[in-house]
Amino acid sequence: MQHFTSVYDLPNLTEAINTAREIKNNPYGYQYLGKNKTIVLIFFDSSLRTRLSTQKAAMNLGMNTMVLNVNQDGWRLESEMGVVMDGDKPEHLREAIPVIGRYCDIIGVRAFARFESKEDDYTEKILNQFIQFAGVPIISMEAATRHPLQSFADHMTIEEFKTRARPKVVLSWAPHPRALPQAVVNSFVEWMRQTDYDLVVTHPKGYELDPRFMGNLEVQYDQDKAFDGADFIYAKNWSSYTQYGEILSKDMNWTVTAQKMALTNNAKFMHCLPVRRNMIVTDEVLDSPSSIVIDEAENRVYSAQAVLKMILEA
Ligand code: CP
Repeated sequence: MQHFTSVYDLPNLTEAINTAREIKNNPYGYQYLGKNKTIVLIFFDSSLRTRLSTQKAAMNLGMNTMVLNVNQDGWRLESEMGVVMDGDKPEHLREAIPVIGRYCDIIGVRAFARFESKEDDYTEKILNQFIQFAGVPIISMEAATRHPLQSFADHMTIEEFKTRARPKVVLSWAPHPRALPQAVVNSFVEWMRQTDYDLVVTHPKGYELDPRFMGNLEVQYDQDKAFDGADFIYAKNWSSYTQYGEILSKDMNWTVTAQKMALTNNAKFMHCLPVRRNMIVTDEVLDSPSSIVIDEAENRVYSAQAVLKMILEA
């Protein structure tokens, strides 16, 4: 595998999940792969899980890790091509990326949607500059439109907890005070569509996702009907794709409650974290045995490790 930016980069999805599960049982079994190899993790945006789990994954493989918080630790970086650089950004990505590439063997990049231009976000302007100019493999640690490391861990977690071969997996919009990107949900839908799970997406009108991720999947606009018989409830907020970046609703009737979970087939509750308590989901659900959000976060290590292993072996 050369780069990892979506599920389509994996040579074989089933084998990738099996590799991550094998690594979970034997995390230090491939330490020889990373000897004298270095990964640089570049953050344009904040992180807790992705930063620590990817570092841990690299360390489990024997790699050296370096972390750069762009705009905090380093120079502010210009990403526009052809501009007169007379503003507050003294360095261009065009130089910064290949320089970083000379210092390492793999680069991980986190660069969220900026919500300044739908086109810039949905053409992955920053991530693609890394792929074009780095000269080393690139791992997306959440880009403008996808969060593949999260989706990998989500899939692994469903495989661990499912109680029937074809579980019903429900992705539900839930309210949030701020406008959030669509990356986690785009990626989740895209990834789940590569499985034979019964995937149902539910959200208020106006929150339709990009058809390139949804394919021919239909939306169930009635959250209660969507929850009926579900094995997994994956809650997440996202801002509107059609009215790009706008908050169209903060309807607390979409918050995941114990009453709504009672409609399900004793479903497990999932969320990528960080989660806003009593906005996205009530304390009662999040603190119940149904919640598997901590297991899901733990699996971020092993899924990242599987990705790094595949790149190191290429
Ligand atoms: N789920 C996730 O990506 O968490 P962080 O934003 O804390 O990395």
